[in-house]
Parts: sequence; C-alpha cells; structure tokens
Amino acid sequence: MDRRRFLVTATAVGGGAAAIGAAGAGWRAHEAGLIYQDPAPFAPWFSLGQYGPGEREGLCAAAILASNPHNTQPWRVGLSDAALVVEADEARHLGAFDPFRREMWIGLGGAFGAAEVAAPGLGLALAEPQIAWSGAAGAGRIEASIARAAVAPHPLAAALAERRTNRAPYDPAPVAPDQIERVLALTGPVAGARIVLTGRETEAGRRLAAMTLEATEAINADAQMSRDGHVWFRNTAREVAEHRDGVSVATAGLSPVMTALGQMLPPVDAATSGRYWLASTKDQLAGAGGFGWILVDDLDDRAGQIAAGRLWQRLHLAFTAEGLAAQPLNQVPEMADRDRQLGRDGPWGKRVAELAGGGGRLTFAFRFGRPLKAVPHAARRPLEWVDLQGA
Ligand SMILES: Cc1cc2nc3c(=O)[nH]c(=O)nc-3n(C[C@H](O)[C@H](O)[C@H](O)COP(=O)(O)O)c2cc1C
Repeated sequence: MDRRRFLVTATAVGGGAAAIGAAGAGWRAHEAGLIYQDPAPFAPWFSLGQYGPGEREGLCAAAILASNPHNTQPWRVGLSDAALVVEADEARHLGAFDPFRREMWIGLGGAFGAAEVAAPGLGLALAEPQIAWSGAAGAGRIEASIARAAVAPHPLAAALAERRTNRAPYDPAPVAPDQIERVLALTGPVAGARIVLTGRETEAGRRLAAMTLEATEAINADAQMSRDGHVWFRNTAREVAEHRDGVSVATAGLSPVMTALGQMLPPVDAATSGRYWLASTKDQLAGAGGFGWILVDDLDDRAGQIAAGRLWQRLHLAFTAEGLAAQPLNQVPEMADRDRQLGRDGPWGKRVAELAGGGGRLTFAFRFGRPLKAVPHAARRPLEWVDLQGA
C-alpha cells in the first residue's frame, strides 16, 4: 500500500484535523467523500448477478474482483473464440517493490482463480491455464479454454463479491482448528503451490511477525521502494473515482469517522507516513488469529506465481465464506526480492528460506482471524477499461 500514507492518517488525525482551516476543510470534506460520492468505482462488485448460464463475460467480471498487489489491477481481460484471456498490463507495476513482477503475476493468477470459481455457476468449465510469453519484462498472458458444463455453483462463488482485504485488527484469539479445517477443505488444492498456516504465538508465527516489522523498517529506509509504492496511493474519494485503483485511506481498516477525517488531512511526508505505517503494522501483527504463507518450488517461475495467486484467491474466498478476515503482509518477500534486484548480500533471502524451512520457496505471507470490524470494498476499474481488444 502506500503502506505509509494510508495507514498514517489513523494516528495523525488528532493533531492534524484541528489545523485545517474552515474553507480548506469544506473543500477537503467534499473531495474526501463526505459530500462527494460516486458509486461507480464500486459498481463491479455488484455486477456478478447479471450474468446467466452460458454468459462467458461473467468470467471476466469475476476476474477483475481478484486480490492483486496494491490494487494495481495489472491486467487486461477478454474472451477469444474459445478461451478466457488474462494478459499482463506491464505498465501497472510496483517498481522496486516488485522488481521481478512476481507479485504482478500472483495477481494475474488471482484473476484467473476468481474466474475459475465463477465458472460452474455460469454453466462453464475452464481448462488448466496456459501461459503465453511476449519476452518483455513482466509481459505475457494466461489463456484457458472454456467449455460448457452443467450449472452447479462453486461453494466459494457467493464469496466472490464479498471478499475484501481487511486491514483492521482482528480478534487475537486463535481460530478453532475445525474452522481452519473447513477453510482448507473449501480452498482445495492447486497444483504447484502449498499453504502453511500457523498460530500467532507459535515460534514460526512470532518469527514471521518480527521479520515483517523489521522488513517494514527496511522498506521505510529505501527511498526508491517508498516512491514506487506511493504512486498507487489515492488520497481522496475523488482520486479513487478518477483512477478506480490503488490503495486509499478508505481501505486502511479505520473507523468511518477516522476514514473521513483521514482523507481531509493535508498530505504528510514520507518519513512521517513511514512511522505510522510501522505503527499500523504492529497493530495488525498483534491483532491476528494466525499467520500463513504460500510456498512454491521456484520463485521466478510464472506458472508457480499463477498457482500461488489461484491458491491465495481461493483461500481468501474460503476465509470469507467462513466469516473470517485476512490481509496479505508481504514486506518480507518484497525485501528478499529487493536484495536480489540490487545484487547485495542482504539478509532477507536467507531469512525467508529459514522460515519456509525447506518445504519450498515462500512467495506470499498473510494474517487471518475473526474480524472485529467490517471494512469497505476497494475500487475496481470496470470491464470496459480493461478490455483486451482482439484477444
Ligand atoms: C501479490 C499480492 C501482494 C499483496 N501484498 C499486500 C500487503 O503486503 N499488504 C496489504 O495490506 N495488502 C496486500 N495485498 C492485498 C491488496 O492490496 C488488495 O488485494 C488490493 O488492494 C485490492 O483490495 P481487495 O483485496 O480488498 O479487493 C496483496 C495482494 C497480492 C495479490
């Protein structure tokens, strides 16, 4: 996220709000969404019900609701004669946060995973995804042929339009083992990626939490990473309406009042916001029922990244179906990529490997738990904006 600015506002509100003059406050209230309201950025979340049996566009409508890095929505989506196509939009990347476009491709895998869950309810079946390359950094597309099938809604289909990243603290009590089992059964297997779940107070859980905090500090100290993440920050409701992407104060997991006030604050500098992001991360790590991560065989293999994205999408939908909340927390693998990109002998690759414990390469980390607070949806660009011409 602009993991700084948008988390910053929570704590900065007390001091900052008083400093806004009356005229400025009126303008900011308008821009923040207290007066200015536009439902269009959230319309895609309400569109799935309009697609009936055989309507292949419903696959695309589900794909664009997927979890994706920083809400960059790094995709173009379309239908060819016989296939669903999810293509990388290479311009929509996170720069130094994602130097190998690993997260971008996890997001593309997530889009495919969401379509896969929608398919049976539309009387459709998607074949295993095939990857086509174009050679440029990050570029390529996923194609999966579409067949007709009996209409039989997927058990996770109802969660597609309900899922959201919840960045508020959760109940810190562990989630009951039988509920975890139900989540894993609902998720099902995805070839090429594996889930590890652990409690907050296990040794592995404590290690992940400590490493995540330290990685947050390391990102704060990296000016390039800070800048590249910040590009995707949307400060006000008007900016969200204009771009329909990115992360925002509204999705930071704050109370409605704090959310409104947070959007009215003048921008803060990177150092200040970094401090608040760190504070928010501490709250998120303490307010977790458990942690988890996804392992693959090879971090750089696009097929593994797609598998990780499909698996995360299904897992997050399963948490949602079970009334649980989840939030990716990827500071640690992001720092490992950054060390690798800079060719420096940093500690992160080794630390991630130790955490993964020989069971594979850790490509994605998250927390989960019983939610204490409902959170709003993140914006989505409509299908018309991401349509893949001539797929
Ligand atoms: C590869 C990947 C990495 C992500 N990393 C983080 C993260 O470190 N912290 C976080 O709060 N959310 C993270 N997210 C969640 C996205 O920010 C979120 O999916 C996006 O903003 C859209 O919001 P939604 O999930 O509510 O639809 C990640 C998602 C993906 C797919």
